[in-house]
Amino acid sequence: MFPIVSKRPLNEAGTVIEYVIKAPLVAKKCLPGQFIILRLDEYGERVPLTIADYDREAGTVTIMVQPVGQTTRMLEMMEPGDELADFVGPMGKPTRIADQKRVCVVGGGVGCAISYPVAKGFFEAGIEVDMVAGFRSKDIVILEKEMREHTTNLYICTDDGSYGEKCFGNAKLQQLIESGREYDEVFIVGPLKMMKFTALTTKPFNIKTICSLCPIMIDASGMCGGCRVTVGGETKFACVDGPEFDGHQVDWDELIARNSFYAGDEEKAKEHICKLTGGVRHG
Ligand SMILES: Cc1cc2nc3c(=O)[nH]c(=O)nc-3n(C[C@H](O)[C@H](O)[C@H](O)COP(=O)(O)OP(=O)(O)OC[C@H]3O[C@@H](n4cnc5c(N)ncnc54)[C@H](O)[C@@H]3O)c2cc1C
Ligand code: FES
Repeated sequence: MFPIVSKRPLNEAGTVIEYVIKAPLVAKKCLPGQFIILRLDEYGERVPLTIADYDREAGTVTIMVQPVGQTTRMLEMMEPGDELADFVGPMGKPTRIADQKRVCVVGGGVGCAISYPVAKGFFEAGIEVDMVAGFRSKDIVILEKEMREHTTNLYICTDDGSYGEKCFGNAKLQQLIESGREYDEVFIVGPLKMMKFTALTTKPFNIKTICSLCPIMIDASGMCGGCRVTVGGETKFACVDGPEFDGHQVDWDELIARNSFYAGDEEKAKEHICKLTGGVRHG
């Protein structure tokens, strides 16, 4: 079992929650860009979540979760001391942190929780990091202090102008590129449509663009085919070949259609969250 060591909301609105989980074997090996699969209990569905941070000595792994559906809302009801049945990882390929000199990391909403460890990884490797963090409004901004400490320049944008600059993340990225900032790579994480349009922004400038994809995953072992995506005309499995791929090569429209396939079932499942068991479903 994997105990919850601590839990805290990352913004005023409580739209994203950080959990520190005791998981020494995962903490020992994980790297930026990788993810875990958890199950709340033996009946639970498998949920993939990015490793946001880790402490190898303490044997802990940090995850940041946006409660959106049945499992993540049940997790929201769990408290420090409660235990997760499974916490398996690290999964997926780590981010390539190598010969880049300057990168721009673009995060959208909860995508900032996923891109923050990558930005931190680049920064700690001595790479210059500009980060564009886009949110709908001020009350849902997360990780501002952490992103500021682990980037060269942080640009916060909100859709409604309630904080930072009033613009979308891709518009800010375009402005930076047009102002003469030269990037070896742009790294994007956010909702699928945001990633599609941000990747389109970098294409005319011929900048290498990596996107961390979030297709539906089931076994996360490359066997079920649930997470398949088409990249450059070839079928790839995001759980073992990714989750990071060349954003200019991804078939975004196919991925967007596949990810909405279970929308009806997911809506129905939300009606059956058990509040009596403290969020953990039994039978
Ligand atoms: C590699 C990867 C890393 C991720 N990292 C994070 C993270 O750090 N923080 C975070 O909040 N979310 C992350 N997600 C998304 C997260 O897995 C889903 O929000 C979660 O599975 C929703 O489950 P649910 O039962 O609460 O909601 P549901 O109602 O079942 O689903 C809500 C939405 O979540 C997505 N989803 C549902 N099931 C899955 C699944 N098995 N695999 C992938 N997506 C699914 C779908 O788009 C769906 O519309 C990640 C997804 C992937 C693939
Ligand atoms: S989740 Fe089954 S192949 Fe990737």
